[in-house]
Amino acid sequence: VIEQLKGVRRGHLDISVASTANYFATRLLASFISHYPEVSFSLDVTNRATLLRQLEQNDKDMVIMGKPPDDQGLETEAFMENPLVVIAPPDHPLAGEAGISLKRLEEEPFVVREPGSGTFIAMERFFAEHGVNLKTGMQMTSNEAIKQAVEAGLGLGIVSIHTLELELETGRLVVLDMADFPILRHWYVVHRQGKRLSPVAQTFKEFVLSRASKMVTRSHLESA
Ligand code: PGA
Repeated sequence: VIEQLKGVRRGHLDISVASTANYFATRLLASFISHYPEVSFSLDVTNRATLLRQLEQNDKDMVIMGKPPDDQGLETEAFMENPLVVIAPPDHPLAGEAGISLKRLEEEPFVVREPGSGTFIAMERFFAEHGVNLKTGMQMTSNEAIKQAVEAGLGLGIVSIHTLELELETGRLVVLDMADFPILRHWYVVHRQGKRLSPVAQTFKEFVLSRASKMVTRSHLESA
């Protein structure tokens, strides 16, 4: 990658990432900029619904998000797994249990993301497929708000493991040991088909595809 960077001197990178991808996207950008400090960038952090609109308008160099629909004329490349897990406060009755069934979750209130969120859509599809009806009366528009709410005892939550590094390290939240989890999603680099990427954008795309899954720490994923 360092070799490829030599051809690129300066430029501007205009990217958008899913709010859930922001937990690692800033680390990727920091590493990229350390190789090429003269590149400037703007980073938009937003949910899936907004990202799809930006792709339609061809506003950004590229987007990092969960799998977009197949029929929108988009070029997509997967680069890393995105497991969704159930979180609870450490003193929750389910916290010590192994192999918790999906049905058991029907008894618990859930704090969930907004309907425009990829996490929310994946969660809804998964529980519908399994014939499980969650109580999802508490909706919040950020992963941080959900984690705070779960810590405060409002209910259980479903979030990407990538949002959890700090809370798992400090023991403020635990990942429940579910029988049929995680919900496995993937992260994609996405832009319109046939888009002509600038040299900086092309280099950044190759950087993400080749480096991201190695750079994003695996330790907290393995302990989950
Ligand atoms: P989001 O994440 O829930 O922040 O929109 C994107 C996704 O998982 O597709």
